[in-house]
Amino acid sequence: MQLNKLETSKNIENEAWQALENSILYYKGQPVGTVAAYDSSVEALNYDQCFIRDFVSSALIFLIKGRTDIVKNFLEETLKLQPKEKALDAYKPGRGLIPASFKVVSANGEEFLEADFGEHAIARVTPVDSCLWWLILLRAYVVATKDPSLAYQPEFQTGIRLIMDICLANRFDMYPTLLVPDGACMIDRRMGIYGHPLEIQVLFFAALRAARELLICKGNEDIVEAIDNRLPLLCGHIRQHYWIDINRLNAIYRFKGEEYGKTAVNLFNIYADSLPYYELDKWLPKKGGYFAGNVGPSQMDTRFFTLGNLMAVISDLSTEEQSQAIMNLIEKRWEDLVGDMPVKICYPALQGEEYRVVTGCDPKNIPWSYHNAGSWPVLMWMLAAAAVKTKKPQLAEKAIAIAKVRLSEDEWPEYYDGKKGRLIGKQARKYQTWTIAGYLLALELIDNPDYLPLISFDKLPPDVVSRACEFEVGNIDPYINL
Ligand code: GLC
Repeated sequence: MQLNKLETSKNIENEAWQALENSILYYKGQPVGTVAAYDSSVEALNYDQCFIRDFVSSALIFLIKGRTDIVKNFLEETLKLQPKEKALDAYKPGRGLIPASFKVVSANGEEFLEADFGEHAIARVTPVDSCLWWLILLRAYVVATKDPSLAYQPEFQTGIRLIMDICLANRFDMYPTLLVPDGACMIDRRMGIYGHPLEIQVLFFAALRAARELLICKGNEDIVEAIDNRLPLLCGHIRQHYWIDINRLNAIYRFKGEEYGKTAVNLFNIYADSLPYYELDKWLPKKGGYFAGNVGPSQMDTRFFTLGNLMAVISDLSTEEQSQAIMNLIEKRWEDLVGDMPVKICYPALQGEEYRVVTGCDPKNIPWSYHNAGSWPVLMWMLAAAAVKTKKPQLAEKAIAIAKVRLSEDEWPEYYDGKKGRLIGKQARKYQTWTIAGYLLALELIDNPDYLPLISFDKLPPDVVSRACEFEVGNIDPYINL
């Protein structure tokens, strides 16, 4: 019997729901999260754990469907895992951290949760993004339930404060961005994203905004003031120094180097020869632009990183013009960034000597594979959210139509390889939960744009914007409309 299109879509959706249901992790009889992948055909490693960043996709879809209990349990239990005291041992997680993942273990007939702060993870990577995602999710829970009482509980207020304490601590550098080691986020392997990677900065921005909304001012005046000081500077810094479009590329191409002192224009001493400017000259559409992957001393990583750029649109870190330019770039460079499976995690791939030096010869990250420009279906929900926000839902619809049948036929892989994303990832798990949840979430966001406020933020208040503009006013690039 031939199924019509609508029936096929419904069947795929039902299958996705069933798979998501199967991934739920129970603790003392209560749902508390979802495992990263439910694939018994390969060794589990840590894919049988609940990852904080992975769970966000599941959590948002649960919130949309009114399954708020599981999200509440998750927030409460992960908060308990957050160390509340200063670590005396430098190998132990510091105060305020939220783990990368956790699992349920049983001993003497009792269940408890065991957290991994990166001390068991491959390469011992630090999950900086966990505490940022946790805050973003707590705020989504408050938006969904229209009830701030969970966030206002003293334990939650302390938890938020402790996260803000590590984020806003005294430090060595003097940028408003966060300085982090390589692999501190979704890309949790060596990929040359140490320093000030876009993904962390954008999540930091969203987390600061979430904390600002959720912290009760009384008793937290100092933190609230610190957030108010940091937000405009962070925003101005990213909007100005990370932005790349053809005008900006022209400016950088003609930058002078070795400038000293207050009047310097090329603040970070970027040498144009370090950029692939001929490729960019060809690749950048007239009206397109994006935020660079990383900016630091004599460093500008011109790779396009999808999560950071899409979340910049969603969290309103980008200006209206920049958001439109990012979406325009995705539309005009569809074959490169979306191809046959939405969406590339970054573009282009590191190749040859650069691949060897930057990844440390990582066989999982060979060019056009995994983190090195592989395609990750989970990113589809962020594409959908950004598309809805910029009033270009047709982009997300097109992406969903490409992904739908393949995802189900291929059993919901974690990622795809190849320049066009036509190969199931060499080491991809099947039934990867955030692939499944990301697909369902993308559908919901397109069908009902009213769900967008769960994850999106409004325009920054005018006083914050004007302070973002004041930032290094003498050096503002004339092309950037802050
Ligand atoms: C891989 C991904 C990471 C994800 C984890 C579990 O390590 O790089 O982002 O959280 O798998 O799915």
